Amino acid sequence: MGMLTGAETEKLHEEYVMQPWAMQGRPSLPVQKAEGIYFWDYDGKKYADMSSLLVCTNLGHSNPDILEAISRQMKSMCFMAPAYATEAKSTLAKLLVEAAGADVYRRVFFCNGGADSNENAIKMARMVTGRTKVFSAYLSYHGATLGAGNASGDWRRFASEIGGANGFVHFMNPHMYQDGYTRGVDDEACTAYFLKALEKQMHFEGTDHIAALIMESIVGANGVILPPKGYMEGVRALCDTYGILMICDEVMAGFCRTGKMFGWQNFDMKPDMITFAKGVTCGYLPLGGVIVNAKVADYFKDHVLQCGLTYSGHTLACAAGVAAVTYYTEHHICDHVKKMEAILRDFLNRMVEKHVCVGEARCIGLFSALEIVKDKEKRIPMVSYGVKNPIMPSIMSELKNRGFSTFGRENNINICPPLTITKEELKEYLPVLDDVLTWVDETYCK
Ligand SMILES: Cc1ncc(COP(=O)(O)O)c(C=O)c1O
Repeated sequence: MGMLTGAETEKLHEEYVMQPWAMQGRPSLPVQKAEGIYFWDYDGKKYADMSSLLVCTNLGHSNPDILEAISRQMKSMCFMAPAYATEAKSTLAKLLVEAAGADVYRRVFFCNGGADSNENAIKMARMVTGRTKVFSAYLSYHGATLGAGNASGDWRRFASEIGGANGFVHFMNPHMYQDGYTRGVDDEACTAYFLKALEKQMHFEGTDHIAALIMESIVGANGVILPPKGYMEGVRALCDTYGILMICDEVMAGFCRTGKMFGWQNFDMKPDMITFAKGVTCGYLPLGGVIVNAKVADYFKDHVLQCGLTYSGHTLACAAGVAAVTYYTEHHICDHVKKMEAILRDFLNRMVEKHVCVGEARCIGLFSALEIVKDKEKRIPMVSYGVKNPIMPSIMSELKNRGFSTFGRENNINICPPLTITKEELKEYLPVLDDVLTWVDETYCK
């Protein structure tokens, strides 16, 4: 590596790489190196990674502990087939079960990323219950493979629906701001409304046909949507009533992102299965998986687990996972996140007061989003759902040009920096966002 210039790298990318979620043959920024909360392009321009890329580089770039663990593992054995026990895989499974709670959870099935983790969780739920249907929320994303794609709620599911997969049913989950509720005032009413609608839908689908209900504990890519108080507990109770297995997708919300090891630990409920990826290795190597409770684990004591991947429990990836999970606990990352959250939350709330384009700020841990509106009074989003419009991409480019790299979807600007970000780094980069919001006020809200 190091043979091509930035321009050559970009040209080859444009010509040969199939770019996800995009029309092909468009320019892509060539990136040369990454360290801490930063990455650099080939001209030496520095970008603060204020989204942890795709909310995965939780411990920042080039974390020395993870690098060292990968390099150590590489020297003894890069890969061993799933049928064999390896120290990295056995250790990581135990660490993950303990992080979730060894009183309830028993085993881990390792996968390669988020989508296939959800795919396998759904398959297990169908095997355990002997039922077919899978409930999932419209405001969600669970991955792009056939089952995970069909379970996803946002527009990214449409291509998976061509030809389809059977039994996927979507329900509307609450978005307090967009649904006209006031957080802290209307939680009870909002929860009651959405749970009633969900239960009714379950009856119409046939409660004894529903194998699983899959939800992000905190909806991530669709805008860090915090559920109203009592909602997650209510969903869990419905699953219990009707014998439905509840899967919490922790691919984005997991690994200290919300100030807890897993997002569901912010609520008074426990899912039957927990799917994870991203932060388990901070993206240094691809890894995901499903943590299952005793009910699911016990079923497979005398039934064959009909799930398998060549790279299940990939040795190098698990070594990276052991290092990352150990780092989260030994460096008290959740405590640090809570401290940084206070600074971030305060800033975001000030943005709501200051800017006409900011309708709402949502923040839990270092997982946050601003809701961009064109009419604050009436809560009218800057761009209607499903409408192609250049405004949000132009806001993202404006941020990136000023060295603040993040992503957003629909009307959200997500702010989810590496969890290792310092107070000084936050205070240096948040004013960039403030300036860009002033530009948005002046450009799009006049
Ligand atoms: C909540 C959630 N689940 C699943 C996925 C899919 O993960 P992957 O892209 O690793 O397949 C994502 C990806 O962003 C996600 O945010």
